[in-house]
Amino acid sequence: MEALLCTRLGDPTSSISAPTGKNSESSSSPIEISRNHPIPELDSPTAVRVKVKATSLNFANYLEILGKYQEKPLLPFIPGSDYAGTVDAVGPAVTKFKVGDHVCSFADLGSYATFIVQDQSLLFGVPKGCDLVAAAALPVAFGTSHVALVHRANLNSSQVLLVLGAAGGVGVAAVQIGKVCGAVVIAVARGAEKVQFLKSLGVDYVVDSTNQNVTASVKEFLKSRNLKGVDVLYDPVGGKLTKETMKLLNWGAQILVIGFASGEIPVIPANIALVKNWTVHGLYWGSYRTHRPAVLEDSICELLSWMEKGLITIHISHTYSLSEANLAFSAIKDRKAIGKVLILLDDLGGVRSKL
Ligand SMILES: NC(=O)c1ccc[n+]([C@@H]2O[C@H](COP(=O)([O-])OP(=O)(O)OC[C@H]3O[C@@H](n4cnc5c(N)ncnc54)[C@H](OP(=O)(O)O)[C@@H]3O)[C@@H](O)[C@H]2O)c1
Repeated sequence: MEALLCTRLGDPTSSISAPTGKNSESSSSPIEISRNHPIPELDSPTAVRVKVKATSLNFANYLEILGKYQEKPLLPFIPGSDYAGTVDAVGPAVTKFKVGDHVCSFADLGSYATFIVQDQSLLFGVPKGCDLVAAAALPVAFGTSHVALVHRANLNSSQVLLVLGAAGGVGVAAVQIGKVCGAVVIAVARGAEKVQFLKSLGVDYVVDSTNQNVTASVKEFLKSRNLKGVDVLYDPVGGKLTKETMKLLNWGAQILVIGFASGEIPVIPANIALVKNWTVHGLYWGSYRTHRPAVLEDSICELLSWMEKGLITIHISHTYSLSEANLAFSAIKDRKAIGKVLILLDDLGGVRSKL
């Protein structure tokens, strides 16, 4: 089978290496395509092998290859976490799925390959009528935002939600989930195209961080609606933007610490949190599989039902083949993605961007 291998740590956006064995020593890329990689065997009676149709790029996959993520897998490894595809083989004790079923899931590693094996308990059936490629982009981005907003913050229709990095993978998920919960949703993103897209999702107010002062602009909007401030801050960006937007938070507000796409870990002053009765939630979604697997399962099931009903839509701005993975990582690094970037496994064509 075909698989993307990370053979050393480094920037995966440089030109991709030739297939294993040929010139990989001299290439500057830390990733290469292995064309005859062994197909993974079923490793237990309840194991399922999935033929991957599409797999998504998350900022974490990029950080992992750079060596800057909290998880540090042993080299070489096949990166990739969330995916969707068709059941290809099942172990003798599998009861939930049969060959040909459409499923999606996420793994610690290994989805940037033609096949992946996981236990049946970790797979979700993709409802009939839902696009299988879109389902590949749901687990991590929507799963993270759903656990954060619904399970941790208990977001409701009397609250104001502020989403930073709102046009990125988790951001687009957060604004849509915010609207499903009935909250007033404010989004921050960079550039006219992202702003236009967020408006098309029904976001109540969008700030373009390239040419607007974020705090002044949000304050003006809040005033125009007779709203006091922000109740829930969804923050996958960190750095200066967090520092600025903390000025907008209400008494009793909640801060969801999701990530640091800016590269800067923000400081949240404990004295201000005390005086203003803030709650700070650190959220590491992947660790729910170990510590709260039932929450994670309920969350993905609810999201798939929302997808089926059309309450949320997966926006895919770029798709690439596996051998174009460096370009896929560039779209993330260069902040070009609006929604999700995907790798299509059974597609041999060239770069397709909707931008
Ligand atoms: N805690 C968890 O369990 C969890 C789960 C998933 C993701 N995350 C984290 O959440 C963050 C976002 O992930 P994602 O997959 O949504 O990434 P993404 O699609 O690349 O979106 C990141 C967004 O951050 C903004 N940004 C601001 N400064 C940036 C910079 N210097 N470089 C790149 N982007 C910058 C960009 O928006 P503008 O260009 O519009 O400013 C971009 O749209 C990452 O840190 C990721 O590790 C955490």
